Amino acid sequence: MSKILIRSGKLITASDIVEADILIEGEQIAEVGKGLKASDAEVIDASGKLVMPGGIDPHVHLDLPMFDTVSSDDHYTGGKAAAFGGTTTVMDFINQPDEGSFQSNLDAWHAKAEKASIDYAFHMNVTRIDDDILAEIPRLVDEGITTVKMFTAYNGRLRLQDGEIFKVMRVAAEHGMLPMVHAENGDVIDILVKEALVAGHTAPEWHALTRPAQGAADAVLRTAMLAAQAGSAVYIVHLNTAGGLDQIRYARGRGLPVMAETCPPYLFFSIDDLRGPDGAKWICSPPMRAKSDNVALWGGLEDGSIQTLGTDHCPFYFDGSRPIEYEGEMIAIPGKELGKDDFTKIPNGLPGVGDRLPVMWSQSVGKGLITPTQFVALTSTNVAKIFGLYPRKGCLMPGADADIAIWDPDRELTYGLAYSHHRTDYNLYEGWKLKGFPQKVFLRGHLIVDGDQWLGRRGMGKYLRCQPGAEVL
Ligand code: URP
Ligand code: ZN
Ligand code: ZN
Repeated sequence: MSKILIRSGKLITASDIVEADILIEGEQIAEVGKGLKASDAEVIDASGKLVMPGGIDPHVHLDLPMFDTVSSDDHYTGGKAAAFGGTTTVMDFINQPDEGSFQSNLDAWHAKAEKASIDYAFHMNVTRIDDDILAEIPRLVDEGITTVKMFTAYNGRLRLQDGEIFKVMRVAAEHGMLPMVHAENGDVIDILVKEALVAGHTAPEWHALTRPAQGAADAVLRTAMLAAQAGSAVYIVHLNTAGGLDQIRYARGRGLPVMAETCPPYLFFSIDDLRGPDGAKWICSPPMRAKSDNVALWGGLEDGSIQTLGTDHCPFYFDGSRPIEYEGEMIAIPGKELGKDDFTKIPNGLPGVGDRLPVMWSQSVGKGLITPTQFVALTSTNVAKIFGLYPRKGCLMPGADADIAIWDPDRELTYGLAYSHHRTDYNLYEGWKLKGFPQKVFLRGHLIVDGDQWLGRRGMGKYLRCQPGAEVL
């Protein structure tokens, strides 16, 4: 069995910072301690470096069909980009099939993910219910899926009615599963979008103007209270508003098991970014809001009202008519240009899976806004705990998978497309000066990123079965 000794690094976990060695045997961490000896191990000197559990991104959309195209990273390219940013596990969403049981899309997503380059788990979207579907939800647990995502928006497509959400939550709670909710007000959005188009408002900023922030606050509170009535915990995905955060605090303050994720763009960008000539680059749902929302969400990370940082990685080219080079091939995939005359036709989603850790390290820990241990909790440990992957993932303990990022806190770069590895033609953080990057990244003991070198392989990612009855944080 191969052995690797990572010597003299500063280990950062969700609870501690300690100087110690890590011995990896095969795919797992075998020992953690000071002065470890293993004469037959390959030794990696990590002095002056930080050693963290590989990042876990709770929210990505790889190879996702949307409008007349598909998100431009698949399970190979998205995993590779993630790894360069220090992330070793992603959680992807399966669409519910338009008819029949979940099975056809379970099979389809497993087939797509055969090329995965890092480990992955699945969430299931539930966008249509009847008695058969309700009966089938608990069987997802046998498939390793313990989460169901529902939508209070996208009327006529993805949305469930409140009573339907309540029914799904009740089934989920009975079986140790966790409902996840995309919380916006679908009825109001529907009306405002129709009115905007009639009035000839087709520019990207109308994407945000037709999805008012109050609708997110209303939907977060409604979701929290539906969960309370169903006796269920709930996880709000991609929280983007101060008002939504207020409702999370209100619910948690009353002891309700309500958790929330936010994503880096909601901490940095606002509707102003949609107003530029390249505004479509920032189009995703829910949308960028006001600078005051950015500030409030930072507060939610600092005080623990928000438990995870995901990305909602769902990239599209800005100009998909122009091919870009990817691993020696020229590739064009239709993207944001599909909506150049109509904001409702711009594919919704942003790149970010590889940006998450370097951008957040620099902007949060680097600026003293959160501590290194909070950083690890938000980007790895809490995710593993909430989704039933802990302690296999999300920690540096004997027996855990040896998913490890050796981090160089002194490496400085002007970040952007030239450094990030997403398969798309733009980066949201173009020109940002960042400090602190992964130097080496291990996936289950295999070195997959070494500096600027990619050593990972198509198909080396493993499917992870999430355990039901996971922690509520
Ligand atoms: O715009 C986004 N976020 N696209 C992905 C789908 C979703 O609602 O998460
Ligand atoms: Zn969503
Ligand atoms: Zn999403």
